Amino acid sequence: MSLVAGIDSSTQSCTVVIRDAATGELVRSGRAPHPPGTEVDPNAWWDALQGAIADAGGLDGVEAMAVAGQQHGMVCLDADGEVVRPALLWNDTRSAGAAADLVAELGAKEWAAAVGLVPVASFTATKLRWLATHEPENAARTAAVCLPHDWLTWRLRGTGSLDDLVTDRSDASGTGYFSGITGEYRLDLLERAFGRADVRLPRVLGPAEAAGRTPDGVLLGPGAGDNAGAALGLGAGDGDVVVSLGTSGVVSAVTTTAAADDTGIIAGFASATGENLPIVVTLNSARVLDATARILGVDHDELARLALSAPAGADGLVLVPYLEGERTPNRPDATGALHGLTLTSCTPAHVARAAVEGLLCGLADALDALVTAGVSVRRALLVGGAARSDAVARIAPAVFGRPVLRPTPGEYVADGAARQAAWVLAGGDGPPEWTAADTETFEADPTPFVRERYAQVRELTAPRRP
Ligand code: XUL
Repeated sequence: MSLVAGIDSSTQSCTVVIRDAATGELVRSGRAPHPPGTEVDPNAWWDALQGAIADAGGLDGVEAMAVAGQQHGMVCLDADGEVVRPALLWNDTRSAGAAADLVAELGAKEWAAAVGLVPVASFTATKLRWLATHEPENAARTAAVCLPHDWLTWRLRGTGSLDDLVTDRSDASGTGYFSGITGEYRLDLLERAFGRADVRLPRVLGPAEAAGRTPDGVLLGPGAGDNAGAALGLGAGDGDVVVSLGTSGVVSAVTTTAAADDTGIIAGFASATGENLPIVVTLNSARVLDATARILGVDHDELARLALSAPAGADGLVLVPYLEGERTPNRPDATGALHGLTLTSCTPAHVARAAVEGLLCGLADALDALVTAGVSVRRALLVGGAARSDAVARIAPAVFGRPVLRPTPGEYVADGAARQAAWVLAGGDGPPEWTAADTETFEADPTPFVRERYAQVRELTAPRRP
């Protein structure tokens, strides 16, 4: 049996799956946690990767591997390949001002036309502007810039030479200085953001182009951004919209046409298969449920039971879930709000219901944005840690106004990386056919009033601009 390994280096943890390259059958897996925070030393990801590999029983028999990872994180290396400063992650909002400046300087239309996205604090380009402004010595020492998955692939390669830095089109398309349409870096935009363009950027590999071998001879795939990895792991095709509730909330689809949305709601990323991945991302997702469970002093099962025991709309109680500021809508300074408290709605069940509905209303807006942009929705697939919650799965069809399918909970990002590794190993025009995950269908009567009330409260509680 020929084995492949797929890695998901996510915000909160590192997961390794080892699968049969031909059938996709799971052979073994492992996991290790990442440190908390929005600023992290990349060496901690390396340590976690080693831990996850050990937890999976090692790499014996593995012939190829690939890394999918959290997108956008800014990893700066000096001329010797040492990390210059801790990476700033996608959910670090300190570069919100830099993002606003970059949009003001060039214009949202120009950004969308050039790279398919309008800068927000998540994107790498804005973090580079922040670095140039606030830490000029670190900026001056920076000889190369890459993304979390690029850096891990490079460490696995083990040469230490900056010449061997590689990335893939999906993750490059989230930097703000790469066009997924032309397949070229926009060094003019890198220079605009960072003040210089003489930094080394990873070479962008094709979807199944090998990135060399580890010192032990394991073939390396180009890797992918985690959202593109999940789409590949799920085998998402035409008409499939993936709604992912992980640390971020993500609604995405694999399409033949690229998005260039100058409102900035949809980011026009690339997929891991050579197509496009229009995507809408929120900063607040699974952790909204964690936080609500903490407030109520219950576990997740009890939170779900409480939410399902309250009426739809929670008798007017609305939770706006902007616990880390928000990215879509672009409100980096926003905070969460619980609005509409009455004697009736002051119960744990109402609070639980409001949390689940608030979370889902943000994702319903994201789904609508993709539909308005012409994405067809045959299946809405619910994945990610919070999709395991029965309250989320049962209330989602009511809030979305359409049935949702929940694939068997799994590690779809790591699976996508494994499938890519199998593709690199086997060659050919497309990834190997692996058995698709089983899905469970959830249906409910639509509750449009929940979204209307949520929209009112979201605007009512929006931070006032000075
Ligand atoms: C996508 C994004 C997040 C991270 C989370 O734009 O910022 O989904 O990739 O890992």
